[in-house]
Amino acid sequence: MPLSFAAADPASLPLYLITPEQLETTLSKLDEAQAQWVRAQGFSAGAGSLCTFPGASGIAGAVAGLGSEKERKRTRFTLGTVRAALPKGVYHLETDVTGEALEEQLLGWLFSGYVFDKYAKKSPSEAELVAPEGVDAARLEAIAAGEALTRDLINTPANDMGPAELEAAARDLADSYSAKISVTTGDALLAQGFPMIHAVGRASPRAPRLIDMRWGDTGPVLTLVGKGVCFDTGGLNLKPGASMGLMKKDMGGAATVLGLAQMIMALGLPLQLRVLIPAVENAVDGSAFRPQDILTSRKGLTVEINNTDAEGRLVLADALALADETPSDLVISMATLTGAARVAVGPDIAPYFATDASDAATVAKAGARVADPVWQLPYWEPYESMIEPGIADLDNAPSGGMAGSITAALFLRRFVTETPRYMHFDIYGWNPSAKPARPKGGVGQGARAILAALPELLGL
Ligand code: BES
Ligand code: ZN
Ligand code: ZN
Repeated sequence: MPLSFAAADPASLPLYLITPEQLETTLSKLDEAQAQWVRAQGFSAGAGSLCTFPGASGIAGAVAGLGSEKERKRTRFTLGTVRAALPKGVYHLETDVTGEALEEQLLGWLFSGYVFDKYAKKSPSEAELVAPEGVDAARLEAIAAGEALTRDLINTPANDMGPAELEAAARDLADSYSAKISVTTGDALLAQGFPMIHAVGRASPRAPRLIDMRWGDTGPVLTLVGKGVCFDTGGLNLKPGASMGLMKKDMGGAATVLGLAQMIMALGLPLQLRVLIPAVENAVDGSAFRPQDILTSRKGLTVEINNTDAEGRLVLADALALADETPSDLVISMATLTGAARVAVGPDIAPYFATDASDAATVAKAGARVADPVWQLPYWEPYESMIEPGIADLDNAPSGGMAGSITAALFLRRFVTETPRYMHFDIYGWNPSAKPARPKGGVGQGARAILAALPELLGL
């Protein structure tokens, strides 16, 4: 089972996970012949390095490297690289790594069991690991399963992951955990008061919709809102080819909140969860919304469209306005919202915004603990004027292009006026090159930081 641990097995082989400093003491625990073998292979415990050693009937075990201090600072999930190279077999860990660092490595192991094989045959690792004693294996498996859902949804190309398919994925998830789900589709969006979701999605033959899932009857209320732009052509402000290339991932926010929702439900957290996903395709035809159109949002605020490629904030605004109509202890939006966020912090780090300073600190600490890097950006009030065009209440695409992630976050915040605690994550959702336990392609960001922070955020 690539995404879970093996049952305890008396015949499991030792997998020593060590630093270079621990190499000699580790080798002294092996047979002399085995130790000589490992030395002869030139194994020096570099990050992710692996050397199996023989016994009477094949492989007797393996040594794997965590790397030097410098390497360890640069590498997350090193055990994922080790797993990818390990021969088939059942292993157990022998290591000094404990606590959160051990959990990170175990997640690395599980994450590296993920393969996206919908369109081409791939062979997942056949190496299995018995979870070390004292570790909450079921929790780690739930996290890995949620991450795999996120990756699958992002990796599936837009021809097979339109608004309807995203709805189907949300329905599957709801069914698995007896969650309630309702969906408002097509012209019903106008009747129900979601004009901006409709405007962004109406040019596609694949009808726009708002997905609303609820789970749990007691406890604090957490509302997650995810950008579900199944493909972002840019609309009439068409993206150039190179920028459009990755835009199947523009539902990365939706994929990430669904993955996080799965983790929360699988773990049975004592809270009331609501997930809102505006699912649309930002396409081009004669019915497309245009630059200089002025839309009236669900909240009543008018928005001048200065760029049809700044569509994410429009669909999120109507979903956030709905979220804001009923009390939540915390509202969190996640979206592949701006190119500016990627320019600022690159693909690894999720910038986030928080209306409550203590929530911001809680999430930062949690992210650092669970190797899910996040970094706070400010709701810089002086930039509010940048999103005010004069002719309407708001401008969806301020000219000048400065502070793009901040102005997008300020825009979204205008739609959350009744909920004191609101956070927004401007994620990338994509791993541009293979890294330990994170193949090139869709990847969750921020979900594990939030999950780890929830007990403190919501007093669970
Ligand atoms: N989906 C994009 C943002 C994006 C682009 C995220 C590339 C990750 C990588 C979003 O809809 C968009 O195009 N935003 C524009 C806004 C601008 C027109 C104000 C952007 O960031 O350039
Ligand atoms: Zn766009
Ligand atoms: Zn977009």
